[in-house]
Amino acid sequence: MPCTVIVGAFWGDEGKGKIISYLALKDNLDFCVRTGSVNAAHTVWMDGKKYALHMVPAAFVNPKSRLLIAAGANVHVAKFLEEVELTKVHKRIGIDQNASIIEEKHSAQDKASAVNKGIGTTGWGVGPAIEERVRRTAKLAKDIPELQPYIVDSVTEINNGLDDGKKVLLEGTQGFMLSLYFGTYPYVTGRDTGASAIASEAGVGPTRVDEVLIVYKSFITRVGAGPLPGEMTKEEAQKRGWFEVSAGTGRDRRSAPFDFELAKKTAKINGSTQAAVTKLDCIFPECQGKRRFDDLSAEAKQFIREIEAQTSVPVKLVGTGPDALDIVDRRK
Ligand code: IMP
Ligand code: MG
Repeated sequence: MPCTVIVGAFWGDEGKGKIISYLALKDNLDFCVRTGSVNAAHTVWMDGKKYALHMVPAAFVNPKSRLLIAAGANVHVAKFLEEVELTKVHKRIGIDQNASIIEEKHSAQDKASAVNKGIGTTGWGVGPAIEERVRRTAKLAKDIPELQPYIVDSVTEINNGLDDGKKVLLEGTQGFMLSLYFGTYPYVTGRDTGASAIASEAGVGPTRVDEVLIVYKSFITRVGAGPLPGEMTKEEAQKRGWFEVSAGTGRDRRSAPFDFELAKKTAKINGSTQAAVTKLDCIFPECQGKRRFDDLSAEAKQFIREIEAQTSVPVKLVGTGPDALDIVDRRK
């Protein structure tokens, strides 16, 4: 696996946090590099406690993993410091010197913008912060006194790590359908969320990426406005046990059944080499907590095989419950 990119297939909230925390523990990741910004919440369960991480990489569950925030990321200083305290990762987290800063004024601009309200942004101000960076007036992480203990040249560190054969995971945020370029524009986030962009934000050249692991959820959810093919009512979603609330903003998640056509398209454009399917237990409750493929029900196995047939990507990991270790691992 030396260098793996994790990318979300749909509109975010596919369960990337859970997959990353599993890989951190199981594969003993050397580096985990978080891209994007504070608008994304990656949910990780550890020792029966739930963490919704907006800044700290999801691999924090392994005390040996080095945690980095990418040069292309946007850092929310208060949230970063709060999460470092919460997860006790002071000694092993670094922020790239060139990461930019998302400020309160960006959040205020986001919330005051009629266009952004119509899109249903998270209100964290990621769009305005990126605008400011493009204008070349943004503050950078290296200019902030509170961040001094954490400032590093992550790009050199990561690439030297790859030279030494270290295991590096590049943690994407949101999902491909929220990409500024490839998603449901204008109902998208402020950046490209695809696999190539994740590597680019981290400063890793395309030839150094070994695996692109695309994460599908067993059904689709979306928060905010914009098209959602096959969308069902909240009542229907509740009846099926699919109804969810956003980990980041507490808003209702809209839901729809799995879309094989969309899965095929997003696998191809991201150059996916492997797939993970999460929350299988939500659509097949009998699979709850199972850790062997053979123990899944016939219907559930058929669902996984159908995803493989339609996308031509092998499903290597299947999530069957919230715990990091509730996974069917088909890699060996
Ligand atoms: P923004 O990223 O806050 O500008 O919001 C733009 C769109 O992306 C809105 O539809 C948000 O709901 C959505 N979005 C942003 N971050 C996430 C996420 O982490 N999970 C799911 N949707 C997100
Ligand atoms: Mg999320």
